[in-house]
Amino acid sequence: MTREDYIKNAAEQFETLLREQLARTDQMLQDCGAKDYASLPVITVGLIGGDGIGPIIMDQAKRVLSVLLKDEISGGRVVLKEIDGLTIENRLALGKTVPEDVLEAIKSCDVILKGPTTTPKGGTMESANVTLRRELDLYANVRPVSVPEEGIDWMFYRENTEGEYVLGSRGIEVPGCLSIDFKVTTEPGTRRIARAAFEYAKQNGKTSVSIVTKANIMKKTDGNFTRICHEVAADYPGIHTEDWYIDIMTANLVNPAIRNQFQVFVLPNLYGDIITDEAAEIQGGVGTAGSANIGDRYAMFEAIHGSAPRMVEEGLADYANPSSIFKAAEMLLRHIGLIEKADRLASALTLCGETEKKVVVTGTRDGATCQEFADYVIEKL
Ligand code: IPM
Ligand code: MG
Repeated sequence: MTREDYIKNAAEQFETLLREQLARTDQMLQDCGAKDYASLPVITVGLIGGDGIGPIIMDQAKRVLSVLLKDEISGGRVVLKEIDGLTIENRLALGKTVPEDVLEAIKSCDVILKGPTTTPKGGTMESANVTLRRELDLYANVRPVSVPEEGIDWMFYRENTEGEYVLGSRGIEVPGCLSIDFKVTTEPGTRRIARAAFEYAKQNGKTSVSIVTKANIMKKTDGNFTRICHEVAADYPGIHTEDWYIDIMTANLVNPAIRNQFQVFVLPNLYGDIITDEAAEIQGGVGTAGSANIGDRYAMFEAIHGSAPRMVEEGLADYANPSSIFKAAEMLLRHIGLIEKADRLASALTLCGETEKKVVVTGTRDGATCQEFADYVIEKL
């Protein structure tokens, strides 16, 4: 192809992308209201094992849920439904990030608890997480991090369907010359994540929200993200709103002198991805942090970490820490309105993972196994 061919193709591709994204904003404007779980006669919880250490930690999460929800399950209010087929082997064999039957099974559930899934490096296969977040329109990635002894109680509201992710597999390349990826910020997409963050702040007695971007450089996308967040903030006069750039905020989080002043963060997708791993590490490691992907019709809860192929290769999969997926299960219970169950799990996790610590998972053979830790948590429920 000549240079002119590349330019022509790229211009056509850009037009397609622009039209698609405009259609997506139209769709968002038509969406109506969030599902009211309390009024559902039956809540179906989908369980997806995933790859690598996923099935191992998910087996234990299922045990925990089965114990906690014994009455709800026997009474028919809650159904736990196992969903197979979201494995890297099956996905590669079918050439589908999320095979259609799996997506259908997922959509038949109200909420999902999912083990980590592997994304092949290179190639064109998108991450299953990214596909699911898009297909289920899970626009808020909600990640709590706390370090009680330091007074740290952070809640991250990461935009989960736009930014660098939405067209991340559809960039333009002129081989040997250049590559261009796209970052997308939409008006309704930003408004809804900002609304979610400020509502959380209001309902949980938080007094401060930090908007984190790089609006000095990404003038259009982050510039508009900041503006829209401030517009939403105007509806919450009791809440102090600050703008920060992602670089200095990354530094702030490792500054013990000031970090416990931050409460709620609202930020675009990629910055949110990166800074929540940093925050999880401050809490005690990515193995300890839960993650919720919330949309109006579906919600998916998962560990913040990946499938840990290295642990599997080294024969350490049974020593994986299930705390992160247990935290995700706790968030799931809270989301569907089973607050007392969520509180019970939260107390057991604090006791087992932070205060009593009689059984400790280290990720190596020196520590407890995933199952031993789960036994300990179940005993304390
Ligand atoms: C996360 C993960 C995902 C992301 C990957 C697996 C696509 O890092 O949930 O933070 O980048 O969002
Ligand atoms: Mg991440």
